[in-house]
Order: sequence, then C-alpha cells, then structure tokens
Amino acid sequence: MPPRAIILDCDPGQDDAVAIFLALASPEELDVLAVTTVGGNVPLALTEANARRVVEAAGASVPVHLGCPRPLLRPLETAEHVHGETGLDGSGLPPPQRPPAPGHAADVIVELVMGRPPGSVTLVPTGPLTNIALALVKEPALAEHLAGIVLMGGAIGLGNITPAAEFNFYVDPHAADIVFRSGVPITMFPLDVTHKVLVTPERLERIDALGTPAARAVAGMLDFYRRHGRTGGAEDGPLHDPCTIAWLIAPELFSGRECHVAIETVSPLGLGRSYVDWWGSGDGPANALVVNEADAEGFFDLLVERLARL
Ligand code: BDR
Ligand code: CA
Repeated sequence: MPPRAIILDCDPGQDDAVAIFLALASPEELDVLAVTTVGGNVPLALTEANARRVVEAAGASVPVHLGCPRPLLRPLETAEHVHGETGLDGSGLPPPQRPPAPGHAADVIVELVMGRPPGSVTLVPTGPLTNIALALVKEPALAEHLAGIVLMGGAIGLGNITPAAEFNFYVDPHAADIVFRSGVPITMFPLDVTHKVLVTPERLERIDALGTPAARAVAGMLDFYRRHGRTGGAEDGPLHDPCTIAWLIAPELFSGRECHVAIETVSPLGLGRSYVDWWGSGDGPANALVVNEADAEGFFDLLVERLARL
C-alpha cells in the first residue's frame, strides 16, 4: 500500500505539535503534502510559526501555509491558559529558519486535492475548521473529491471551553456546521475518546528517555501541557490531536460508531455543541464515524516508537 496523502490543518498547540511529529515520523503510512495553519489556540502569527518550528525540528521540508486568522463569523477566542503565551510553551524549540510557503491554506487545500485523483487526499484538521469550510465553499467539487476528513473536535458529552462545547467547534461553530453538512466522510475524535489518552508521568518519562532533540522538545512541551491542559475534567493532559494521526496509522487502536452529528450555531448557551445521535433516535443519516474508545497503552507504544525515529 502506498502511503496515504494527507494535509494537516492545525493550530499548534502542544498536542497539534505532537500530531505533526507523529505524522512526519510515519512516512510508510503517511505522505504529508502540506501543513496548513489557522488561528485557534493562539493567534495565526504564532500557530504558523510554531508549525514551522515543529516541521524543522522533525528534519522535514513539508511546506507550511498560513490560513485564516479568525473564524468565519465570530471574533477569535484563544486558549493561552492551556497552551501558554506562545502556544508551544515548554518545547524549547528555536524560532523557525525557513519562511512560510506561499498560498493561502484554503487555496492550497483546493489545489492539492483537485490536482490528484478523486479519493486520494485526506484532510486532518486539529484546530477550528475555518480553513476547511472556506475550501469547501470555494470549490464545490472538493467534497466529492476528498477521501475523507479525520478531525479532532466536539464532544458526545460535556464540553471543555463551555459546559456545552469543545474548543475547536466552539471557536468556529459555523465552519464546523459547514463541514458536517458537506457530505465528506468524517472520522471524529471528540473529547470522550481523547480524555482516555492521557500524558501520565510514566508516559512522559518514556518519551523523555528517548533523549533525541525532538523527543526532548516533545517531553518539555508535554510537561507544560500536563500542568495546564487538564480542562473539561480530564484527569491528566489529554493528547487530543495526535489521536487523528494514530488512527490513520493504526486504526485497530480505536473504535466508535457511525452517527449523525449536528452542530449548534444558534443558541448562545450551546454555541459549538456537537449533537451526536449516538442512539440513532433522530432522522438524520450518519455523517461521521464518532470514535469513543482508545487503547491508550498501544497509542503511547506507537508514539514512542515513532518519536525514536526523529
Ligand atoms: C482541542 O483544543 C485545543 O486546545 C487542542 O489543541 C485541541 O485541538 C481540544 O479541545
Ligand atoms: Ca489543536
């Protein structure tokens, strides 16, 4: 099997950074065509520079593109309380050396996907869905051309940024709504599964013990993240975003259910809530595989094995 072509759309963020490292360390399974960035955890100027810091630390030359600095309709809300002022606090990574690549993220997504045979590119968004929604609106044929979207966002149960909503969907609920109505096959990693993939002290020690510069950067950023990232009742730092990449490499680590998912865009109290029809009680057809179980030990075995390569 040739590696699966993916575009990582992200807002690093320590957990986004680990997703980038894991993808770039897995060339047998994944061909990372581009990293596209969006305003989210911190403003775009930081998320895009952080993406370049991580790509360079991985020794890769994948292009990093800037995307939307703010959500479609709402002002940007950021999460420095979780990720620190830089978004990548604790990493110790130097500033990037190479400039960002030309071209807006939404345009690059359209060009890369439409320039390849149908069903050959998977989008992996791990931040607010602004760039993805913009690309879907800009090129109506994109939805049919995509292999799928594997995203981190939403919750079956409670939220982490409001009682009702998870951060990525809350920041740009209108973009999330566009994505879930697009008809693209979606695999969704909500908080219910990512809160089962926790950075414990023992797991952090395994990463640190690898001793390579990349592993030390990951250990440093996850040490920070463990102390600040326990939002939404998580018992330790949940490694949300890398679950998407781990699923693409080793789907047997996860399981879930095909459901209809709708996004709240109207109610002020529920803004960004994902209504997951787990029991099939509504009329809507399934539009997402909603993942709710993870083999956390298997996940960290994979992560440690892959980080050791960098
Ligand atoms: C999501 O929000 C961000 O803080 C993380 O990077 C992750 O993508 C979790 O709610
Ligand atoms: Ca993220």
